[in-house]
Amino acid sequence: MKKIILGKYTLQTPTLEHAKQQAELQAIVFPTLSWEELITEEKYKKHLEIFPEGQFVVLDGDRVVASCTTLRQNYHKEHHTFLEISDNLWLGTHDPNADWIYGLDVSVHPNYQGRGIGREIYNARQDVARKLGCKGQMTAGMPIGFERVKNQMTIAEYCDKLIKGEIIDPTVTAQTKCGFILVKPLFDYLDDPRSGNCSVLMYWPLDSKTKLSENH
Ligand SMILES: CC(C)(COP(=O)(O)OP(=O)(O)OC[C@H]1O[C@@H](n2cnc3c(N)ncnc32)[C@H](O)[C@@H]1OP(=O)(O)O)[C@@H](O)C(=O)NCCC(=O)NCCS
Repeated sequence: MKKIILGKYTLQTPTLEHAKQQAELQAIVFPTLSWEELITEEKYKKHLEIFPEGQFVVLDGDRVVASCTTLRQNYHKEHHTFLEISDNLWLGTHDPNADWIYGLDVSVHPNYQGRGIGREIYNARQDVARKLGCKGQMTAGMPIGFERVKNQMTIAEYCDKLIKGEIIDPTVTAQTKCGFILVKPLFDYLDDPRSGNCSVLMYWPLDSKTKLSENH
């Protein structure tokens, strides 16, 4: 897949040559995430063997300015972590028959954020879900704005306010504006002090009547 977006960038399936730049981008976009939760060059190359349709980069000329990693999974109501759902980021947990596209990350370089690139990537994932006959996409978004208020409330209180729409978070609010419905916090999902080690489970069905589970 390859197409021009926003009149000047290329959104496409990565090649093996992009893997090094993708790995470098991870460290820039997720500066407080533990090193074992950052996707390496070798893992990016493996993803192209496992589920090429789900992987994208956005290029400005030859430079990778955004990237995303995707697998296919069902909804798991039991507690799980970022590393468990992704087979330590190798995507061995990819299930070609699962109901949902599972977005492991979207990484837009800080100099390119707020220009519509993230929305284009989430829309491209929705197209993949449609083509593969999935119900839509789900992801776990990092509530990175927690860092600003961590002396005033717990991460549970922060997520509660986010889900009620009472506060704005740079990541989770952007994801809701793109189409996601917030479900619940996943505590101890990853190792990132900025987000209180938490992510917020969310989904975006292709058909608005489709629910993630009987409770959501
Ligand atoms: C979150 C992220 C993927 C969004 O991508 P982006 O290219 O910056 O977002 P877009 O420009 O496409 O904006 C999409 C929508 O979100 C809104 N938005 C973007 N940044 C926002 C912010 N800081 N606060 C509130 N809303 C925001 C935009 O206004 C837009 O909505 P609108 O069209 O209704 O105005 C990107 O900022 C990013 O990579 N952040 C750091 C890494 C991360 O947290 N990734 C996601 C979790 S894995």
